[in-house]
Amino acid sequence: MGENTEKNQIRVWCDGCYDMVHFGHANSLRQAKALGGVLIVGVHTDEEISKHKGPPVFTQEERYKMVRAIKWVDQVVEGAPYVTTLETLDKYQCDFCVHGDDITVTAEGIDTYHLVKSAGKYREVSRTAGVSTTDLVGRMLLLTREHFKRGDKEYTVALDHSSNLGTDSTARSPYTGCSQFLPTTQKIIQFSSGLSPKPTDRVVYVAGAFDLFHVGHLDFLEAAHAQGDFLIVGLHTDLEVNRYKGSNYPIMNLHERVLSVLACKYVHEVVIGAPYSVTADLMDHFNVDVVCHGATPIALDADSSDPYTVPKERSCFKILNSGNTMTTEDIVQRIICHRLEFEERNSKKEKKENIAIKAAAKKHSTQNGDCKTTKSEIA
Ligand code: CTP
Ligand code: C5P
Repeated sequence: MGENTEKNQIRVWCDGCYDMVHFGHANSLRQAKALGGVLIVGVHTDEEISKHKGPPVFTQEERYKMVRAIKWVDQVVEGAPYVTTLETLDKYQCDFCVHGDDITVTAEGIDTYHLVKSAGKYREVSRTAGVSTTDLVGRMLLLTREHFKRGDKEYTVALDHSSNLGTDSTARSPYTGCSQFLPTTQKIIQFSSGLSPKPTDRVVYVAGAFDLFHVGHLDFLEAAHAQGDFLIVGLHTDLEVNRYKGSNYPIMNLHERVLSVLACKYVHEVVIGAPYSVTADLMDHFNVDVVCHGATPIALDADSSDPYTVPKERSCFKILNSGNTMTTEDIVQRIICHRLEFEERNSKKEKKENIAIKAAAKKHSTQNGDCKTTKSEIA
């Protein structure tokens, strides 16, 4: 049997909350998939997450759907246990479990991977620095707390998204209170499909902010994908999105939004910083057959013109109603409504992680007679 055939038979297990699924989650699943041939992802219920770390922003149904749409995922197991068991791995015939190099603990402070670690069925991949659910919640809380009082200087900071936003600085998590995400061409290549449309393909083009990539976007992209064979998504620049959405939008910057959209299995190509108005140039360059927009309102361009004038003139513009009314603003509203719960959740999580790290470092120094401990060694 060839090396590739052998690798293809390896079944990999991952699990987590996957709340407000972001490209950090997608990147961990990409790395996990590369360790085998089939990737099975267990997603915890709302009840389990509330018990161990606080209420999730998205419901379990929304989280299951979002994980299913990540292009490296072969199967989703709904309601996977918070502490990964060997029985679960056996049930889905998985060879080992993969997790990022951060520590995940239960409400009682127990490592959720202790069983698979002791059985030698645990592998680790690098966590993507600079993005986490906790951090995104922090950015949104900042929006509610400070935004309307902000002067120009602070406004720039808010749009920069690299500062430690919205969380208790005395209890920063060593994992989620992480450094700024550094976008590289390598990361874009890893996330890209690498495909070009075939001459016979019907090319579909959509454009938007796709900020805090959510189930509303997902349902829309699924509908757009069904309109043809090759789906291109144009992403507007941060300045453009801020022009038509106002406030502190976008919550995620252009680089982050590119990776979130590229991780979606319906998307073949992304235009990074697409023109707000769909131009004849753009349509001819990509051989676009149909341009779609969802059921949400269409904001005018800076000169008050309709951004879809050209595709409308060419009779290839279509409104798609996916039936899902979720918007980025709805997510921000959910966070605002549960602001105190989330603040408490963030600070509790960070304190718990710090305690677990100190305990692991102590154990490590007793065993080795020194106190040098890396994150990977701990996790
Ligand atoms: N993960 C990652 N890089 C990130 C965030 C998450 O590799 N920036 C990985 C975690 O290590 C884990 C998986 O994604 O293997 C699922 O993570 P999850 O349980 O959803 O937790 P977090 O995203 O870390 O969320 P929170 O900040 O609320 O803990
Ligand atoms: O608002 P945003 O620019 O992120 O939307 C990108 C695209 O997704 C738009 O075409 C919008 O109409 C569509 N969408 C949708 N249903 C939602 C949210 C967005 O069809 N619930």
